[in-house]
Amino acid sequence: MPHPLRSRSLALTVLAVPAVALAAAPAGDAARGAQLAQDWGEYGGYACAGCHGEGLRGSDVAPALAGRTAAYLAERLNAYRTGTATGANAAQMQAVATTMQDQDIADLSAYVAGLPGK
Ligand code: HEC
Repeated sequence: MPHPLRSRSLALTVLAVPAVALAAAPAGDAARGAQLAQDWGEYGGYACAGCHGEGLRGSDVAPALAGRTAAYLAERLNAYRTGTATGANAAQMQAVATTMQDQDIADLSAYVAGLPGK
């Protein structure tokens, strides 16, 4: 029978592998994301909800974000930031996302993914 301490450290090593594989994308901090969503500065403090509606559930001018996965949101924000998004109103979102850092995108995505969808 293996020494109990030894087998436990082996288990921890195995668990640590996925975390290393994901290291390229920063982990999202939902609390910071909630703050950013409220006072994102591109429009002089115009919040995400100003266009995406209450609870980010969508409005006449912008689609719902609530109910989307963090991976989807991060992928979209990256596309707006780099100017590769092709939506009809992508220019508006590009203006919002252009100054986002990787950490901002991860935090906003973590926050929004936790909101209840429609
Ligand atoms: C000035 C209005 C405006 C503001 C402010 C705004 N958005 Fe948007 N957003 C839009 C519009 C319009 C679209 C759809 C663009 C298109 O046609 O591709 C969009 C699309 C998106 C999408 C893609 C949704 C999808 O279903 O593909 C994400 C993600 C997003 N916005 C996140 C955010 C976040 C996070 C914030 C706050 C930091 C924010 N937006 C602030 C107008 C806005």
